[in-house]
Amino acid sequence: MASLRFTCAVFVLTITLASAYVEQLDDTFKDIRKKELWLVEFYAPWCAYCKTFEPVWFEVGAELKSMGSDVNVGMIDCTSHTSVASELGIRGYPTIKLFKRDKVFSYNGPRQKADIIEFVNRVTGPAVRAIPNQQMFQHVMSHNDILFVYIGGSSPLKEKYVKTASELIVYLSFYSALENVLPKAVTLQEVPSVVVFKDGTFFTYNEEQHGDLTSWVNRERFPTYTKLDSYTLYAMGDSGKLVAMAVENEKKPSEESIRFKTLIETAASEYKDHFSRDFQFGHMEENSYLNGLVLGEVKAPCIIVLNLSNDGYYMPNQPVHSIQDLLSFLDGILEGKVQQLGGNGLLQRIKRTFHDAKTTLTTMFQTAPGWTCVVIGLPVGIVGMIIYATCTVVPVEDDEEEESKQKGTKVVAQKENKKNSAAKKED
Ligand SMILES: *[C@@H]1O[C@H](CO)[C@@H](O)[C@H](O)[C@H]1NC(C)=O
Repeated sequence: MASLRFTCAVFVLTITLASAYVEQLDDTFKDIRKKELWLVEFYAPWCAYCKTFEPVWFEVGAELKSMGSDVNVGMIDCTSHTSVASELGIRGYPTIKLFKRDKVFSYNGPRQKADIIEFVNRVTGPAVRAIPNQQMFQHVMSHNDILFVYIGGSSPLKEKYVKTASELIVYLSFYSALENVLPKAVTLQEVPSVVVFKDGTFFTYNEEQHGDLTSWVNRERFPTYTKLDSYTLYAMGDSGKLVAMAVENEKKPSEESIRFKTLIETAASEYKDHFSRDFQFGHMEENSYLNGLVLGEVKAPCIIVLNLSNDGYYMPNQPVHSIQDLLSFLDGILEGKVQQLGGNGLLQRIKRTFHDAKTTLTTMFQTAPGWTCVVIGLPVGIVGMIIYATCTVVPVEDDEEEESKQKGTKVVAQKENKKNSAAKKED
């Protein structure tokens, strides 16, 4: 008995300690947010995913504390503190934002401690980090798939680079170095230059050819061919490119699956000059995101092209056997000859709402069945009782009964809508 009590006490203590570094904030956050650095999670009590995420958030708080970081960690229940949520335009849960004076940075990466801490360090540090020597250059190169470096001293180009860096720091780090710390294998035609190292090679930015620096970085900040997941796709949305991918059959990679991957990779590497302005290439295993997009089941293996700006997608209507088949499919899309499916038209949005609601409910039942029963059951029960009461107490006419039933459906639909907006983020 005593030991049980002790265990309980330790358990309670651990929870209290873990959450001790995360502050519960309220509407007054509006007034304090510009005075200090804040990392805040916006959540809703009914959001099942937020519950699962909570321990990670407490760990983030504890870790930042132990690192001696001056970033405060907090969380806000958006259902009780609606004015701060609406001021900051919070649409889904959980939403993570970092507040640095008058700047707000949104976090869209994986919801894991290491990634969140990395984001905090990047965003709170200098926009551009100087690489002091060759060893460090090698080190940074080996730790980044994509590396942007400004080479040279002060210049107007450097000013543009710093501006670009401060806009895009939420996505990746930016570096600068002097010419003499470049690896021997790297020779530049011109200094100052902005160089990107990726896909095992490097190339330089050219204003005449590539246009605005920020847009160029936005287009180039992913490997030309990469493994995709829903987070990378979300981040790629801003690049404005179409994403051409091989959807793999994760259970048993068939010959066809391997062929699709090889074809996509070939298009990415050998036709880079032709396609890299319009396409991002990759392969993807998990397909719950894709199922949500096509509102059905994506049958892997297959080839699919997404337009992330309007949730549209393209699928080849002829079998793709050779690289020629793939090239004509991709060119067809650019020339407007292949019909776009999906998209964000009204009908499609309504369909998506229902699809998302269905998926969310399924997930909610799987993760927190009891809670879900209460959330869904309570309004349904109440409406049911009202209908029952109306029917039994007063002998009603048919159309009146009809009306109260309709009201009931509306209440449920509204609930579902709310959850649905949360589901967007979760996915
Ligand atoms: C992708 O969608 C956006 C927004 O509707 C549109 O402007 C763009 O042209 C589309 N891209 C292609 C290649 O169709």
